[in-house]
Amino acid sequence: MSPALSVIGSINLDLVATAATLPAPGETVTGAVLARHPGGKGANQALAASRLGARVAMIGRVGTDAMADEALALLKADDVDLGGIAADPQSATGVALIAVDAAGENQIIVAPGANALVTPAALPATLEGPVILQLELPVATVAAAVARASGFVALNLAPAAQVPADVLARADLIVVNETEAGFYGDSLHQARGVVAVTLGGKGARLFKGGVEVARATPPTVRVIDTTGAGDCFVAALTVALLEDMPAERALAFACTAGALAVTRAGAQPSLPTRAEVNAAMESAGKAG
Ligand code: RIB
Repeated sequence: MSPALSVIGSINLDLVATAATLPAPGETVTGAVLARHPGGKGANQALAASRLGARVAMIGRVGTDAMADEALALLKADDVDLGGIAADPQSATGVALIAVDAAGENQIIVAPGANALVTPAALPATLEGPVILQLELPVATVAAAVARASGFVALNLAPAAQVPADVLARADLIVVNETEAGFYGDSLHQARGVVAVTLGGKGARLFKGGVEVARATPPTVRVIDTTGAGDCFVAALTVALLEDMPAERALAFACTAGALAVTRAGAQPSLPTRAEVNAAMESAGKAG
């Protein structure tokens, strides 16, 4: 059996307050409804890839508090391999405080807790299969994982942070949103593979060596909550490229998956299954 897709990244419990509007600095907004959902960019991407049909192993760290079980519940329910997750009695499980408004836009503050303690020493000595990484773990850990990876490397440069040039250069896939694309500029195009830039409701563009090779638009959907949609896109594009889908179709697949993720509340509860994405692709005439 070929090695599983390893997702090395953050695991959070998302505490989500949904209100009519987002607060401005110094403003108090009341009347919100509170929900708790499993989240974290790494865990979201792991679950998204699993729901899209990949065999996934997650590597990360939680606390030994009650939030850890809540944060891992949906990964466990989807049979993601959790053998690479350490439980650290010295630190709290990561928490994201999320505000969502009536248009589905959000503001997020992350208290990384145990995620900040995933050091290079916590990683396997070699990573043989494909890997997905984001920047909610220390950059040194991400760099060490990239150095140890011998297979496909997908790098979601979120949230934006300075990353060594050799890490960017090694990536087979880089995914950024428009803001992150502005932060990294032309350095993105050092990647040996492709660079996807997501454009929210307008879709995404795919570049190779700075030249556009594909673009896609998502289906029109009713936006409930955009949290986790970017993570869904990262996982879907990785799964599609690992399945050797042609670039145009892979990008359409990822845009469709991301669009479905905004139609439901919560990061992980909103992630679509493979059957849902296939059905949406088919009804948009993009199956094939
Ligand atoms: O990308 C969305 C995620 O960012 C949330 O689930 C939250 O935990 C933060 O890490």
